[in-house]
Amino acid sequence: MKATYYGQSCIEIEAGGKKLLFDPFITHNPLAKDIDVTSIKPDYILVSHGHGDHVGDLINIQKQSGAKVICIAEIANWLGGQNIEAHGMNIGGGFNFDFGRVKMVNAIHSSALPDGSNGGNPAGFVIYADGKKIYFAGDTALTYDMKLLADENLDWAILPIGDNYTMGADDAIKACDFVNCKNVVGVHYDSFPAIKIDKDEVREKFVKAGLNLKLPAIGESINL
Ligand code: NI
Ligand code: MN
Repeated sequence: MKATYYGQSCIEIEAGGKKLLFDPFITHNPLAKDIDVTSIKPDYILVSHGHGDHVGDLINIQKQSGAKVICIAEIANWLGGQNIEAHGMNIGGGFNFDFGRVKMVNAIHSSALPDGSNGGNPAGFVIYADGKKIYFAGDTALTYDMKLLADENLDWAILPIGDNYTMGADDAIKACDFVNCKNVVGVHYDSFPAIKIDKDEVREKFVKAGLNLKLPAIGESINL
């Protein structure tokens, strides 16, 4: 599966012949200035929660692509009020889309939308497509609920590592144990002063823990 990183938690994964864009936030990410937002045309946009650094480019990218949005029911209702089609889900529920299955899972965080609307609860996703299983944690603390994924045989976990607003690297390493996955894409770091990390130090920690950590550059594609 090809995955392209656009900074913060925004990553596009090609799965089941479709492009799935997670948590679009590019225009106002000071690190993503070189990305041409108008060139991003996903088939689906998956939104983990309502914060600006996850929905900043949701409306514009949806409008230019016609993508269907997959998100929690409250955010789906908020989008419906703006005439944007969304597939509302809730924690613990799964649905079979044309590219594969999506299960919405728990995240420990908060979720007001930029205009103050109620974004429901924050969430993560497990994607089942092309014979692979990918966990997109969203913004979350380390939580024992992650152990519910231990028997899924996940291929990759996309985890926040920036600390302050979410797990930092040490808890993300524990999360790898909880979800039983050694392959990690680290996200949600460096975009703001509060989440600046020392990448070399973080890489070393993951290596010491026997984990395969990828930190793609913004605009870089990797294979999952
Ligand atoms: Ni957040
Ligand atoms: Mn965030």
